[in-house]
Amino acid sequence: MPIKNHFSIKINVPFVSNVIFGSNFFSSPIRLENALPSPEKGKKHKIIFFVEKRVASLFPSLSNNIKVIGRSSKKIEIIGEPIILPGGEQNKNIGSSLKICSILSKYKICRQSFVSVIGGGAFLDTACFAASIAHRGIRQIRFPTTVVSQCDSGIGVKNGVNIFGKKNYAGTFAPPYLVINDFDFIAALDRREMIAGSAEAIKVALIKDAAFFELISKKTAEIKTGNLPFYRELIRKCAKLHAEHIQNSGDPFEFGSARPLDFGHWIAHKLEAMSAGQIRHGEAVAIGIASDSFFAAEKGFITKIELEKIIKTLLDCALPVWHKLLKKKKNGRFIVLDGIEEFREHLGGKLHITIPRGIGQKIEVNEMDEKTILESFAYLSRLQNHKPKPMASATARFMTLAAGS
Ligand SMILES: NC(=O)c1ccc[n+]([C@@H]2O[C@H](COP(=O)([O-])OP(=O)(O)OC[C@H]3O[C@@H](n4cnc5c(N)ncnc54)[C@H](O)[C@@H]3O)[C@@H](O)[C@H]2O)c1
Ligand SMILES: [Zn+2]
Repeated sequence: MPIKNHFSIKINVPFVSNVIFGSNFFSSPIRLENALPSPEKGKKHKIIFFVEKRVASLFPSLSNNIKVIGRSSKKIEIIGEPIILPGGEQNKNIGSSLKICSILSKYKICRQSFVSVIGGGAFLDTACFAASIAHRGIRQIRFPTTVVSQCDSGIGVKNGVNIFGKKNYAGTFAPPYLVINDFDFIAALDRREMIAGSAEAIKVALIKDAAFFELISKKTAEIKTGNLPFYRELIRKCAKLHAEHIQNSGDPFEFGSARPLDFGHWIAHKLEAMSAGQIRHGEAVAIGIASDSFFAAEKGFITKIELEKIIKTLLDCALPVWHKLLKKKKNGRFIVLDGIEEFREHLGGKLHITIPRGIGQKIEVNEMDEKTILESFAYLSRLQNHKPKPMASATARFMTLAAGS
């Protein structure tokens, strides 16, 4: 029986998010002044800066530069001193976000103000979650400082913190007003963090852009050695692919169940939680990509040669494809497999896992059998742990494994 006496409304909320790439935003006041927004002409907007502690210690002049910029700015009024707080996965929790909310309240930061966050992906998630719930949402300006965050999380519309032992369980959708990818920050990263970030680029290339994957597969030496000009190119391309997906997917706030950008992430999120943050996010994604690509090959969506090229690219970048936590069991069951159920629960009961269909395209599967997943772990363990002599390259691993040694 049709319902009478009702009405519907349709809500459209246009939102423009700008992403700027470059260097020297903090060493040159005019550069940051030019980049900053002034939505209402003639009005000085309040802006409060939160800086991740590790970044503040690596860039000791940062806080002072922010104050100098504030003194001469015609667009912004900097509120208080830049607030320095610890970041990283271990601090990505509700308590940290509430602390930031209390600071926003103390400084009377309003909805027309800006919350500016400088830090890695975990710190951005924590502080931007706080900004999105205080006053039901304060405008965000993000300065991502890691490869992962410049490639992916910084330009995304999601944020979230870990709770109940689950990654990103509490969070919101809140697009940033402005993202400034300042390449000066990534120059301070250690090699492991840089390389980990490249996994997000490999992820998006594999499901969206064959030419980009081809480029990455040829430039693995640049990734492995931390070649900054190549990382800049990688970040620009990867950030654009992520942003275009958000704009063009038709579902930026994920009302449906498809999660293409989460390719490789069901394993990644579980492994990260199991390792209590010891495995870097990008490393966990690399392992997830490797396992889900094995699955894609077994089900006929990519060829064996394509699978080998994917694994070789990951290994040549010095990314992991396997970790010993994949073997960990509880009550006789592999713990990582619970990641599938957690993903299913998150999606509302039906599984949607994106895997490659050929290189550069994708397909969604709604079931993943545990037998194939466990076979992928065995296969990847052999490739990860095989140490051929005298050549330690990934090609040598494949050649010697293929020969049965
Ligand atoms: N919201 C999203 O859409 C989204 C997308 C992808 C990833 N993420 C989240 O992002 C997090 C991973 O981000 P990450 O890889 O940046 O990790 P991270 O934030 O933990 O940073 C990694 C390490 O680098 C340090 N660091 C940060 N900037 C630095 C710099 N310039 N120089 C030297 N060290 C620096 C940090 O202190 C930390 O120890 C995860 O929590 C993941 O869930 C969120
Ligand atoms: Zn990711």
